[in-house]
Amino acid sequence: MDKKVGVGLIGSGFIGSIHADSFKKINDADILAVTSPPPGQAQKFAEKHQIPKHFTDLDEMLALEEIDMVIIGAPNFVHCEICLKAAAAGKHIVVEKPFCLNMAEADKMIEACKTAGVKLMYAEELCFTPKYVRLKSLLDEGALGKPIMLKQSEKHDGPHADHFWDVERSGGGVTMDMGCHAFQFFRWLNGNNPVKSVYAQMSTTVHMEKTKGEDNSIIILEFENGVTAIAEESWTKPGGMDDRAEIHGSEGVAYADVLQGNSIQTYSNKGIGYAVEKAGHTVGWSYTMYEENWNYGFPQEMEHFVDCVKNDKEPLVTGEDGRAVMEIIFAAYESAGTGKKVELPFRSDAAKPYDLWKNRD
Ligand SMILES: NC(=O)c1ccc[n+]([C@@H]2O[C@H](COP(=O)([O-])OP(=O)(O)OC[C@H]3O[C@@H](n4cnc5c(N)ncnc54)[C@H](O)[C@@H]3O)[C@@H](O)[C@H]2O)c1
Repeated sequence: MDKKVGVGLIGSGFIGSIHADSFKKINDADILAVTSPPPGQAQKFAEKHQIPKHFTDLDEMLALEEIDMVIIGAPNFVHCEICLKAAAAGKHIVVEKPFCLNMAEADKMIEACKTAGVKLMYAEELCFTPKYVRLKSLLDEGALGKPIMLKQSEKHDGPHADHFWDVERSGGGVTMDMGCHAFQFFRWLNGNNPVKSVYAQMSTTVHMEKTKGEDNSIIILEFENGVTAIAEESWTKPGGMDDRAEIHGSEGVAYADVLQGNSIQTYSNKGIGYAVEKAGHTVGWSYTMYEENWNYGFPQEMEHFVDCVKNDKEPLVTGEDGRAVMEIIFAAYESAGTGKKVELPFRSDAAKPYDLWKNRD
């Protein structure tokens, strides 16, 4: 492709803002349009980020010839229907995590993109997070020996929008929302070795008034090559986002802390305007983050996807990876529902992962 890649944003909320900021750092692409259904929302967003066109109707945006690639940053329950429309319109597609609500949707999305001849990319930014990329390089060069155990955790005090709390629209709680990051992170670190089994413990401990979904979970993955991976996810941790990983190998160990380990330790009697995602109040000690989007790898992730579209390359994280993560998510909810370790491959016809935990017959 000789021209710059034309990008359309679908959704103008939290992740839409991150992507709009990220594209300001990418030379080979421009965001040309944004769409979201509430009247005035996309317009306000477009004015803020100097995006030329805005729509309330997705089909109108998809009809624009200058759009080569779209990013689906809308609630989980609409990922599939939007992906199918975008594929039919011939657009390359980036789908935000989690990939969709169920296995049947994942299969349809992959098939539709194959049929339309468009690229389908699964947005897992942890595969582009600079500190985690360096962490992986330690493993890859052999400095840590043979991997034995991987750990990753994400914790904050709960999502900012109501669709995350509603299991009908989200598909599940913190495992669906944040465990998905850990699962793709482990697969990537471990060279896409197949997952053999999944065991999970889930509980709703603090936010019972807000959600039927779990607000805490621990998930253990067993890989075919003998590696064990442990994910810890929480929606009940006050004091801002926490994101850490560990690799334990036969010849060494490495610990990486993306946010608190990279931050400015700040004490303020008055509080500061913004410290880090979901920091809550900032009076007293806080962890002040800088270049948060870059430290998380969002611009790097989008730059990679733009390169794939422009130069016809295979993305690092594909629709098939998104589907593999969905399979692990389903196995995790099945495990939490039955109290048993679940062997993979695991196929479920449930409409959403949550149903395997609390809506069992
Ligand atoms: N990669 C990450 O770390 C990360 C971070 C946050 C959110 N996300 C994912 O991004 C998605 C959106 O989350 P968010 O935090 O931006 O939510 P949000 O509520 O802040 O924004 C959602 C946006 O989608 C729009 N929308 C709703 N229905 C739509 C439809 N049918 N078509 C088009 N737009 C529609 C809303 O109007 C809003 O603009 C979720 O799937 C979430 O899991 C990923």
